[in-house]
Amino acid sequence: MSYVTGRAYLRPAGAWDSDLIEVEAGTPAGELLRRYWHPVIRSSEVTTVPMNLQILGEDLIIYRDGSGKVGLLEPRCCHRGTTLYFGQVEEIGIRCPYHGWLFDADGTCLDQPCEPDRGRNKASYRQPWYPVVEYNGLVFTYMGPAEYEPTFPRYAMFEDLGDDEEIVIIDHFAFGGPTEAPCNWFQTHENAMDPYHVFILHNAISGPQFDPRLEIWPEIDFLRHPDGVAATQDRALPDGSILHRVTEVQMPTIRVIPTPTLSVLGPTNNLSWAVPIHRTLTKVFAMVRKRVDADMQGLPVYGNNKTWHELTEPEHQRYPGDYETQVGQGPVTLHSTEQLSSTDRGVSMVRRLWKEQLRVIADGGHPIGVSFDPDEPPRTVIAGNYLIGPDTDRTQIPLAQTIPD
Ligand code: FES
Ligand SMILES: [Fe+2]
Repeated sequence: MSYVTGRAYLRPAGAWDSDLIEVEAGTPAGELLRRYWHPVIRSSEVTTVPMNLQILGEDLIIYRDGSGKVGLLEPRCCHRGTTLYFGQVEEIGIRCPYHGWLFDADGTCLDQPCEPDRGRNKASYRQPWYPVVEYNGLVFTYMGPAEYEPTFPRYAMFEDLGDDEEIVIIDHFAFGGPTEAPCNWFQTHENAMDPYHVFILHNAISGPQFDPRLEIWPEIDFLRHPDGVAATQDRALPDGSILHRVTEVQMPTIRVIPTPTLSVLGPTNNLSWAVPIHRTLTKVFAMVRKRVDADMQGLPVYGNNKTWHELTEPEHQRYPGDYETQVGQGPVTLHSTEQLSSTDRGVSMVRRLWKEQLRVIADGGHPIGVSFDPDEPPRTVIAGNYLIGPDTDRTQIPLAQTIPD
């Protein structure tokens, strides 16, 4: 009764939508995630000292053997279960510290020193493993069924670098912030299709954290396109030109976001992944192509010119950003209590896309964004910041190609 008065007493507890937030193997969403390659760690962090690593809620160890090969294995040794975290990395493979079984990066047992003939039957043992690919400073893995392993996707924006260019990996959550966020990955992911928060959170409340031209209220449209969902924003600039900004969300965790500082005009130079470490912990990796002598896109200026880590608690309250608002939704947001409004259309489209793909794999199909063509060419994206003046050739400006939503 009291609830109808709007008082908090007996308000609904709320529930999350499992289809959006689960990451574990055997769950519908966890299986959908496992149809794609995911970045898991910077290449430079993987050494001959094994590290514990969690990804999609699974505990794994990762190491680089003496030959340079990266292994990503189940930590529990398939002999009697001690952890390979204490294993000894050799020229080829990792040796279990307990009885010395030696495993290659694909789990093959290479040596059993206590067994007759050092393991007459060693071919019948295999340490559980996942395949890895190193690409531009990141280690990626595929954690799904072997028969559905897609071709590793490359991106044209990261190919054919000039001598004066480099690729940089950023793995802090939000600029200058922590490396991980204690919240479900989907609430980080869908934020990329929520352009309205830029004007409120990043400009009116905390700002300006981004380029002042982004304070101008734009015409916003959301489009389905073959790779996912895109948002287009057109801003009429004071000089009469138009700032046409295109942002993309692609399956499964990919966001292609033009630089918020507008430091790069034209096609964007970066791509990022909101990777589930486990259900309530998310890590964002961004891959950025830049000129060697160019600054990284500037860190947003928070109150008193401080970085995220330098802010006091009251300053975090005064100058919140993406981290505060997404983590502030809780470890897992409660979808049943949300009241989606007209500005949430992009978020709704990302969720709908996700659920469509859940149905696709439930029906035995392959989700969008996977290719089994071993010669698949590098992928292209449409995201970017485009300045359109009176003389601009509009045919050179990518507009999201719509498909029926
Ligand atoms: S537990 Fe690993 S070799 Fe025995
Ligand atoms: Fe944001």
